[in-house]
Amino acid sequence: MKLFIDTANVAEIREAWDMGMICGVTTNPSLIAREGADLEERMREILSIVTDGPINGEAIGTSAEELTAGARKLARIDSRIVVKVPMTQEGLKAIRTLKAEGIKTNATLVFSAAQGLLAARAGASYISPFLGRLDDIGQPSEALLEAFADIWSMYDLETEIIAASIRSPEHVVSAARLGIHIATVPYKILLAMTEHPLTDAGIKRFEADWQDALKKRGQST
Ligand code: G3P
Repeated sequence: MKLFIDTANVAEIREAWDMGMICGVTTNPSLIAREGADLEERMREILSIVTDGPINGEAIGTSAEELTAGARKLARIDSRIVVKVPMTQEGLKAIRTLKAEGIKTNATLVFSAAQGLLAARAGASYISPFLGRLDDIGQPSEALLEAFADIWSMYDLETEIIAASIRSPEHVVSAARLGIHIATVPYKILLAMTEHPLTDAGIKRFEADWQDALKKRGQST
């Protein structure tokens, strides 16, 4: 399973890239706004840090024409740009047009298997089911991932599924166990995935045993 980072913060992206955690980036308008960044400028900065793999920026608008125009502008920046397009009827038209032009899209705000299937048929390179936001309204996100895993196992669909709106390491592991292609993960959850109390306890214990052994041999560090 591939991991992307879900942020527009360049310091977080640099750290995750340096630790070898990620092979792609997703942003959305809220994340770009949180950074007070210009969308196109931030896409360029991210491309210079993550030198391999897809970088996702979202097209702004509601009509197919607006979404298509915004997507073309973003796609001109670099061939690694993937344009997020909301899962609506207008979004589907935009996805179809962009596919014909060779522009990669990520159908975002997907909350049902039916939506995901339609976006795949329209030609989205990726679809993004939002796990955390489904859990927030009491609908089990794991059931949605199971439906995607079932459907994708029976057909030869090129579209890759990105588990998004990730709120915990358990979300990532559930997606991985179901064979979901990618999870896009906030930085703090990536950090949480590195941790285990027994790792910390083990390091302390190794260090203490080492110092004891040195003392016994009459040496210091
Ligand atoms: O990738 C989509 C993601 O950014 C949404 O996450 O936590 O705002 O639901 P969240």
